[in-house]
Amino acid sequence: AGSVVRRDRFSGGPARGFLSSLAADERIFDADLAVDRAHVVMLAEQGIVDDGVAGGILTALDDVEAAGHGALPDGEDVHEAIETAVIDRVGPDGGRMHTARSRNDEVAACIRYRLREDLQDAAEATVALREALLDAAADHVDTVMPGYTHLQPAQPTTVAHYLASYESAVARDTARLLEAYDRVNRSPLGAAAFAGTPFDVDRERTAELLGFNGVVDNSMDAAAGRDFLAESTAALATHAVTVSGLAEDLVVFANKGYVDLDDAYASTSSIMPQKVNPDSLELVRAVAGDAVGGLSGLLTTLKGLPRAYNRDLQRATPHVWETVDAVTEATAVAAGAVGTAEWPAETLEAAAGEGFSTATGVADALAMAGVPFRTAHEVLAAAAERADGGTPDVDALDAVATDVLGESLFEYVPRERIEAVLDPRESVASRDSAGGPAPEAVAAHLDAAEAGID
Ligand code: ARG
Repeated sequence: AGSVVRRDRFSGGPARGFLSSLAADERIFDADLAVDRAHVVMLAEQGIVDDGVAGGILTALDDVEAAGHGALPDGEDVHEAIETAVIDRVGPDGGRMHTARSRNDEVAACIRYRLREDLQDAAEATVALREALLDAAADHVDTVMPGYTHLQPAQPTTVAHYLASYESAVARDTARLLEAYDRVNRSPLGAAAFAGTPFDVDRERTAELLGFNGVVDNSMDAAAGRDFLAESTAALATHAVTVSGLAEDLVVFANKGYVDLDDAYASTSSIMPQKVNPDSLELVRAVAGDAVGGLSGLLTTLKGLPRAYNRDLQRATPHVWETVDAVTEATAVAAGAVGTAEWPAETLEAAAGEGFSTATGVADALAMAGVPFRTAHEVLAAAAERADGGTPDVDALDAVATDVLGESLFEYVPRERIEAVLDPRESVASRDSAGGPAPEAVAAHLDAAEAGID
């Protein structure tokens, strides 16, 4: 009889499908079973329900689990549907499962429980990407390449220095995900609707049974708070933006022939037989748009919500599921693309000096010889203008210096030294400041970064 009563409670009328989150709640089916079990065990331990009744409910929950989400009776959400399924099996005593709680603390617990797992997967994907970046970097400490600002050749660097720059950024993304995890990992159970309960519940016990690292203390905060969703989604979106930059670079580098992406990460054209396109990385780049959209949708839903519970929250949750799935997958694809890419050293080194990218090095050499850096900058700017996109040779540089300074370049810097700094490889080797591109500086950085992963 109980089951008939329960099922009739959710009629929903014409808005039935609109009201129900049952389909979307498949994501938290396992979480809800875990939360139900912990709550029932705690109720029995506290003497709030009889052991016999608790045992019957736990057996029914096993049965509901075995039948799966698809076998649940219709309901407004997974919490109600599981409760109906338990009552169907146990009889009215099954309704004791919902003693001393509300769907408000229940759903918050389920989301936190499931999100922990998803954040762990996301964080692991970031670590795998960092390993792929560091492994590739270790092979290319001496591979000189052009470095860009404003998409124009700026100064020579190395493939290792470039890749390690992204590893550093992704390491901070990992840290942000783990910090979000720590705040997700708190139990709201025992808050009930928001106002607590007269039953003698043991909130620490349900937290412990579910592996939470403590409780969300204030019961209104516990039921209403969704900043943990915002923080998690923000960490994911920030990471997605990091990875989109990497993807964009790889698309541009592939276009120039500076990186060879493995066929597994490229696609052919359905009409143009000669084409091999970096589609996977373009999709990785696009996932940042989804993630930023997810964050924006979530924050806009949460903005201005009054305390303590409003049904808007039902539509807040899917933003985080969609974001975490897309971002974790994109991160894994990026790791695969980086791990299988080849960097053609000769092509890269030949390109590294293009666009007079060694000009700063010559200015630095002049400044080191005592010329004020701004004056040295003027000399090289004039030389760059005369060279018109090319790289001047030593004599051309000397001619400009003589015009601007009224003295030969060689009064300051020996010819061989100028020749050396015009060589991209020497240029890179000279920039050995901490964190710079010189091979020994990068090697030291890579050691520290590796240690940061272990
Ligand atoms: N499906 C709802 C959600 O996701 C569960 C909580 C419903 N609570 C309520 N008071 N209507 O938020």
